[in-house]
Amino acid sequence: MNNSVFVQVAHKQYGPFTKSELKNLVSKGQFKKKDLVWDDDEGEWIEAAKYDQLKSLFAAHTPEPAEKTIFAIGGGKGGVGKTVITSSLGVGLSAMGYEVVLIDADFGGANLHISMGMLEPEYTFLDYYTMQRETLSDIMLDTPIENLKLISGACGTVGLANPKYSQKLRFINELKMINADFVLLDLGAGSSYSVIDFFLAVDQGIIVASPEPTSIQESFDFLKVCLLRKLYRTFKKRPDILTALSLDGIDNLSQLTLPVDDLVSKLNTIDKDAGAILETVLEEFKPKLILNMVVEPEDIKEGLALKAAAAELLSIDIEYLGYIEYDREIGKSVRELRPFILHNPKSKASKSLSKLITIKLLNKQGFSSLRTKIRLKKGIRDASQTYSPKTVRDNDTICSVKCFYWDDCEFRNGGFPCTVRQLDPLFKT
Ligand SMILES: Nc1ncnc2c1ncn2[C@@H]1O[C@H](COP(=O)(O)OP(=O)(O)O)[C@@H](O)[C@H]1O
Ligand SMILES: [Mg+2]
Repeated sequence: MNNSVFVQVAHKQYGPFTKSELKNLVSKGQFKKKDLVWDDDEGEWIEAAKYDQLKSLFAAHTPEPAEKTIFAIGGGKGGVGKTVITSSLGVGLSAMGYEVVLIDADFGGANLHISMGMLEPEYTFLDYYTMQRETLSDIMLDTPIENLKLISGACGTVGLANPKYSQKLRFINELKMINADFVLLDLGAGSSYSVIDFFLAVDQGIIVASPEPTSIQESFDFLKVCLLRKLYRTFKKRPDILTALSLDGIDNLSQLTLPVDDLVSKLNTIDKDAGAILETVLEEFKPKLILNMVVEPEDIKEGLALKAAAAELLSIDIEYLGYIEYDREIGKSVRELRPFILHNPKSKASKSLSKLITIKLLNKQGFSSLRTKIRLKKGIRDASQTYSPKTVRDNDTICSVKCFYWDDCEFRNGGFPCTVRQLDPLFKT
């Protein structure tokens, strides 16, 4: 199915909805076989049960084809560990034999390739956006790890930080076609619509936050923007509802009435169907949370406080996946261009991440969790023996204060190879 579809229920239009959102609506009897779906290819409304990609929603006991899981790792602040967690998560999952694709969707400050020890990726998003390479699989690269592929971001490329809507759509549609067990999307910092749209386009969004108040606040704001974007998209074709909810000025976050529960009650008094749809949208949105850089047990409360605030004020149920300690081994692993789970599988951070992978992401409990843990340990040991990051070469441009661009550069990375590959020739003159 295209990423999501518009539907018509009792002559009113809603959406776009993902298949999983529609499944939920079907199970509650709010969306039925005879309701209409907009068929983009044919340019007409057709009955839901006749729309090929939705037929399975109405067929009793038809198992859904196994689908890959796409995680988007984002959430507010920069520097909280999104990239290091993405690369180690990818290594962990691939070490267990899963096919994994990492995607660097931090268009403003791509560096996932560096954390994988790949200093000069052969292809990047730049090749895809400029249509030099047509599909995502054309820019997919092998990494030093078996079963783990990488789609590298294009660093320092003006204009890519905010891709056009059509570019985003093309990317999101193709993302769903990737053949793998897991796809992990490393998102940029902040709450720009680019980041939010990617976070919302996938089924499983993971927020990484540190226990610092600024990070917790930014994660809360990130969720608020996500919700606003969701509400706006759901009722885009119903200006009467947007007005009633005071959501016309989408850019003004303060216009979102809190608690969101009040919005639901208000909508229920105006239009019961729309109210039910809003409730479904809220139920379906279940972001996950990883608390990173935890120093002391007290810090964990910050993650729980974020969960409580999101439930109370935004009516969003965050699934807390767990925490990762502040661990100097991570800093060392970054300098050695090795994902931290490989660099030192016995470090506190690696152990916490391994636990999170087995228990939370793969949902293994009891004996089965023990077996999975052993498989993961062995896989990481094997991967660690074969992993060899490309070392810094003599002719690599090393980032330093002597660089002409130092004062203005967003990608300063002193002492390490310059990530702004497009500037190379200028450096060398
Ligand atoms: N748990 C941790 N303990 C210690 N240092 C960490 C931890 N997580 C991340 N870091 C450090 O923070 C830096 C920024 O992490 P990064 O993943 O690049 O952040 P983001 O992608 O969110 O901007 C890394 O270079 C790493 O040294
Ligand atoms: Mg990053």
